[in-house]
This record gives sequence, structure tokens and C-alpha cells, in this order.
Amino acid sequence: MARSDLVLSLIEAGVKGDQARLRRTVEALIADERAKQHNALADRLDRVISKQPEAAANVIADQISSTDLFSAKTPERQLSELVLPSPITKLVRQMIEEQHRSELLKAYNLKPRHRLIAVGPPGNGKTSLAEAIAYELMVPLITLSYEGIIGSYLGQTAQRLGRLFSFVRQRSCVLFIDEFDALGKERGDLHETGEIKRVVNSLLLQIDSLPSHVVLVAASNHEELLDRAAWRRFEIKIDLPKPTVKQRIQWLSRLKKSLKQSLGYDIEKLARKLAGASFSDLEQFSLNIRRRYVLEQPQSSLRKIVNSELSTLRSRKGRSSTSGQ
Ligand SMILES: Nc1ncnc2c1ncn2[C@@H]1O[C@H](COP(=O)(O)OP(=O)(O)OP(=O)(O)O)[C@@H](O)[C@H]1O
Ligand SMILES: [Mg+2]
Repeated sequence: MARSDLVLSLIEAGVKGDQARLRRTVEALIADERAKQHNALADRLDRVISKQPEAAANVIADQISSTDLFSAKTPERQLSELVLPSPITKLVRQMIEEQHRSELLKAYNLKPRHRLIAVGPPGNGKTSLAEAIAYELMVPLITLSYEGIIGSYLGQTAQRLGRLFSFVRQRSCVLFIDEFDALGKERGDLHETGEIKRVVNSLLLQIDSLPSHVVLVAASNHEELLDRAAWRRFEIKIDLPKPTVKQRIQWLSRLKKSLKQSLGYDIEKLARKLAGASFSDLEQFSLNIRRRYVLEQPQSSLRKIVNSELSTLRSRKGRSSTSGQ
């Protein structure tokens, strides 16, 4: 085969992913080079093609469908439903406005911010915030699924990440990556393998090339485990710690309003008794109160129920949860 035909065949095989043709063409090239006494080049080609069966196996093995790489949800939670410190609400609202008015920004050669990371202990609103952002933007919430993304073959995880990102790139959505530290792991980690490095690098490249109409929300409970380079990619960094006493008061006031009656407790006093609780604890606390209240009708006493729930919470969380804050 003429040299130009070999090059053409090589490119066609690559574009079509035709492994058999790729192998045949490279073997023809090797023979061609050997005939010209170009043994060093022939040996190098030989080494490259001898690794090919592994790559071919990966392609065959990776038959996971694109829809297994994420879960999609129509968001239902509004931003106003969350109790957030006002600087955070302001920052998030700014990002939402930039997204809504991106055409105007574009006219001035500016892009809206679209990469946000939320960190903090469990149960304090990271996932809820991602959903609320999607709600306010009126776009679906696409959550990366680790089960689908993590592959056991070399290079498979990076390849699947590529597939996920090219899927989201084509639509307006919020891409939510929970437990971001699992992917954006510190590259200096002693336990790292070449594979983690490869995944992190590919993740960073994907984040860099994400168009600004796709909002990326990442979440992590372990800020200290995050790769510094990954951390730098985020234009907005949000800390979501456990609620302060002021936020607990705000949350309990809403509860009182929704119950349409007094909790039998001074709200401030109750908020102090709930020191150490996460928002998720507060939610469970209120749900339990509501259930008991309904089931103990007509003689139900809210104060009694609240007292009993407080002692349950205290015994579950131990002494540490009732100290501080
Ligand atoms: N700031 C908040 N205001 C009101 N409710 C909240 C807030 N944060 C969390 N909640 C409530 O607590 C529950 C747990 O919140 P969420 O799942 O968002 O926490 P998370 O930070 O993602 O937790 P994890 O780290 O375990 O994934 C939700 O059902 C939500 O309603
Ligand atoms: Mg979460």
C-alpha cells in the first residue's frame, strides 16, 4: 500500500474506532519501515500496537449507557425555603442573575459565573442548595452517579467523565457533583495511583472547558481532601456550617408559623437547647413533633412532645452536641 493510503487508512480506522483495521494498517506500516531498514521506528510502532488489545478490551467492556452516568431531576426546592446567611444568599442570587442575563454580559464580552462549590458538615444544605439553584434557573438538576462513572479498567473513569461532560455541555442544566473530594482528590496524596492522577487531570480539563451556560455545583464534607488545583477552578466558594443560634431561631419561627400555634416554648430558649444540631436534625425534630402531635390528638400537648423530642435528640447525639454555639 502506498504511504499516503496507509496514513489515510490509519486516520479512518481511528475516527471510526475500527480496532481491526487499525492493527492491520500499523502492521503494514511496520513492514514498510522494516523494508527501509528503519528498525528503531518499526520497533516503536510494534510496542505501541502490542498494547492495543487492552484498549480494545476497554472499548468492548464499556457498554454502560450514558444515562447510567447521572440521575436527572426536576428541581422542586426554592432558594427562599433555605435558611442561609445573607451574604451567601446574595452571592447565589448574583450568580443566578448573571445566568439569567448572560446575553447582556455577552454583549460586553463577559461571562456569567457558573462554578460553585459548597463545603460543610453533613445535613446543612449542600444538596438542597444545588437543587434550589437549578429551581431558580428553571433547568434540570443532573447529578453525577459514581456507580456509573467509576470504571474498573484503566482509563475508563476518565473516559466516562468525558461522556458525561459532553452530554451536559449540550444543554442548560445544573451539574451536581456530590462528594467532590472523591474525584477531586489531593494529587499529593501518598496513596494515589496513576489512575487517580489521570481522573483528576481529566476532571480539571473538563471543568475548564465547561460552557458558562452549564452551572457546576460541587459539594464536599472534606474540604481538606480537595485538590488545590480543583479548588481554584471554582469562582464561588460557599461554607455551609451547622446553623447558628440565630439561624435556628429563624428556622423554628418558620416551624411555629407552619404549625399555626405555639410550641409551648420560647423560641429563643428552644433554639439554645438545640445547639449542635444540623439543619437535617432540625428537620427530623420538627417532623417527629408533627407526627406525635397528630397521633396524640385530641389531648396532645406540644410542650410535652417538644420536651420528649429534645431528650431523644440529646441522648442520640450525646453530651457533645448540646455544648457550644
Ligand atoms: N440551610 C437550610 N435551610 C433549611 N433547611 C435545610 C438547610 N440545609 C439543610 N436543610 C434541610 O436538611 C436536610 C438535609 O440537607 P442536605 O441534604 O441539603 O444536606 P447536605 O449538606 O447535602 O448533607 P450531606 O453532606 O449528608 O449530603 C434537607 O432535607 C433540607 O431540607
Ligand atoms: Mg448532600
